[in-house]
Amino acid sequence: MRIILIIRKWRHEPGFIAYVSVFLYLLFIILFTSSNDSIKIESSFKNVDTTRNGKEVCALPIYDFWHESVKPLLKGHNPMKNCDKTFRKWTELENGEWRIVKEGANCSARCFEGIGAKKEVVFQEWMKPGKTNCEFIEAVCWENNTEAYGYTHSQIIPRTPKPPETKFPSPPNVLVFTIDSLNTGMAKRSLPKFLPYFQSKFSGIEFPFVNKVGENSQPNGFPLWFGKRIEGGRTVAWEELKPDWNETEYCERFLDNKTHIFKEFKQHGYATALIEDWYQTLLDAWPFCKGFKERPADHGFRPIPSVFEAYGLKVTRYHLKGKLCRETHHAAMEYLEQLMRAYRDRPLFTWTWLNNIAHNYIDGPARADQYLVDYFERNHQILDDSFVLFVADHGLRFGYGNYFTTEIGSFERHNPYLAISVPKKYRGSETGLLDTLKRNSQQLQTHFDTRATLLDILKFQPMFNFTDREHIKIQNEIGDSLIRKQPDEPRTCATLPIPQQYCICQVQKFEIRNKILQRNLGKKLVDHVHYLLAKSNVSQLCEQYDLEEVTSLIEYDYTKSWNTYKISAKTTFSAHFETLMVYNENDGSVNFGKVVRLDTYGSTADCTKKVKFQALCHCKK
Ligand SMILES: *[C@@H]1O[C@H](CO)[C@@H](O)[C@H](O)[C@H]1NC(C)=O
Ligand SMILES: *[C@@H]1O[C@H](CO)[C@@H](O)[C@H](O)[C@H]1NC(C)=O
Ligand SMILES: *[C@@H]1O[C@H](CO)[C@@H](O)[C@H](O)[C@H]1NC(C)=O
Ligand SMILES: *[C@@H]1O[C@H](CO)[C@@H](O)[C@H](O)[C@H]1NC(C)=O
Ligand SMILES: *[C@@H]1O[C@H](CO)[C@@H](O)[C@H](O)[C@H]1NC(C)=O
Ligand SMILES: *[C@@H]1O[C@H](CO)[C@@H](O)[C@H](O)[C@H]1NC(C)=O
Repeated sequence: MRIILIIRKWRHEPGFIAYVSVFLYLLFIILFTSSNDSIKIESSFKNVDTTRNGKEVCALPIYDFWHESVKPLLKGHNPMKNCDKTFRKWTELENGEWRIVKEGANCSARCFEGIGAKKEVVFQEWMKPGKTNCEFIEAVCWENNTEAYGYTHSQIIPRTPKPPETKFPSPPNVLVFTIDSLNTGMAKRSLPKFLPYFQSKFSGIEFPFVNKVGENSQPNGFPLWFGKRIEGGRTVAWEELKPDWNETEYCERFLDNKTHIFKEFKQHGYATALIEDWYQTLLDAWPFCKGFKERPADHGFRPIPSVFEAYGLKVTRYHLKGKLCRETHHAAMEYLEQLMRAYRDRPLFTWTWLNNIAHNYIDGPARADQYLVDYFERNHQILDDSFVLFVADHGLRFGYGNYFTTEIGSFERHNPYLAISVPKKYRGSETGLLDTLKRNSQQLQTHFDTRATLLDILKFQPMFNFTDREHIKIQNEIGDSLIRKQPDEPRTCATLPIPQQYCICQVQKFEIRNKILQRNLGKKLVDHVHYLLAKSNVSQLCEQYDLEEVTSLIEYDYTKSWNTYKISAKTTFSAHFETLMVYNENDGSVNFGKVVRLDTYGSTADCTKKVKFQALCHCKK
């Protein structure tokens, strides 16, 4: 009514005709653009493939690491901010003896050790200062009858017998560092001191184009440790990537009798260690898998995070939270330092998996930048004679909701950091090792190739004194060693085992605004969700969804043969689904990738636990 009144009033104004013309013009523009079905999306990447030939072409992702979508997120996460720099240890464990170093302090210590590979630990009696041959102790001091200090100490008692003297030089150490969730962009932004240092002092080579092969740590860790795929999918060429092991095999049974990377290194005379700084480990943490029964390596760090996070006295459970300028990764890295010193006469294989630095924080690694330089400087001699690999599992996945819907954010999730240095004696041009690494670093790579590199270092290169650059196919392995020439065929998301939803090769993208197509595909997605619920036998427990709105529909130009869409759709019960789907216009057939939820569904899917947990469900009241 009001508007009509206003119009009636304005009709007599001199500018009326002009106003109406402008109004109609604007209306025309709105109608015109909204009826425009597909709008090319301006890419933030330097190169974008427009050939629609994802089989042979991969436009490698080159972009500005300081892109504007990431800048607002960099707030300097650091649990050690304002930490107590005057803090000094009150107790120490050196040369097999534990001592009180703070004068007059009233302290006791107790040994603890793991039970097989479990997260639980057993403690021994409290003891007064003196000799101990325990690997781990918890030292606690009291003041005025209250706990005032708690600390976990470690020492290495070599487990494997000293090797016999031979005239052959000992094989090099292989030391792997995983900073969980570290993607290339994060490393570039947060480690401005360490990365150039590693490059100049160790001739370290970065691989900026690594594509993850599964969503979270487990399906990326299994390819690295076992060479097995546990998450299936389809490539951009719609070829099926079948899991090698189903859930029964990788989760519900112990893994001890499988061939794994620690076992293989041990069989070749290496002393081995697994150092994880979180007591929920890669293999048994999630989703409640069995993992290993016995410790998979000669040395395992797990008892320390167990005591720190769960089983120690209250005061001990506080000491690695940062307030004393010390976190779990410091304890883990010190343990590695002790190992490197204890095993100078034998080759050492270690995998240090640090969860705490970067997991939920995009600039978390910044606080380790100078620390890493100091650490590598302090242990320069040993590290310079070793193979050193920084192998992240996947990119950042948590903590920054909307960031993951941006072009850069959703890409960085899939692009784990990788850098490799080789022992100094093999860096000369006569071996061709660095040149080969450099060449391969400019190609698309996966964890399967990193694993092949580890096996190559262990089993195939030593007999050629690390000079063999010719390609070999390692039996039963999917990847190709990075220290050899890789096969000439194009390395793309179609030729490598990469589920299409993680593909980091950049293609032209279009935003599809055609409402009819949106609804049509959105309905198909909802039907598919219902199908998946039925397949998991939980339909009766879950509400039926109705499509409310397609929030985004983006076409990816991988191929001429069909249309590939990334679709996000909201439904009733506030569920928000996203998936990749391919749609063949000719026959109307549609196929789906993995469906994920974008909303935080909390405990609304928990009723399915009694059958099998299914996150897509919204439980009936
Ligand atoms: C213990 O008591 C002394 C004297 O009262 C006091 O100076 C000190 O701060 C107390 N220590 C703790 C940990 O409460
Ligand atoms: C040391 O602390 C313990 C625990 O509070 C207490 O029982 C003991 O009497 C203390 N010893 C000395 C010498 O103060
Ligand atoms: C898992 O794989 C094993 C061995 O291939 C097979 O015997 C078993 O039936 C499979 N389990 C399921 C639930 O598919
Ligand atoms: C591994 O195999 C051996 C020999 O077959 C068997 O005794 C042992 O129980 C197996 N270990 C596990 C953890 O399954
Ligand atoms: C192996 O290669 C290194 C570096 O090229 C060289 O210094 C060393 O003498 C070689 N050793 C043997 C046994 O050939
Ligand atoms: C669903 O139930 C059927 C029949 O009871 C059973 O054969 C099938 O294995 C179940 N599927 C799952 C995924 O639990």
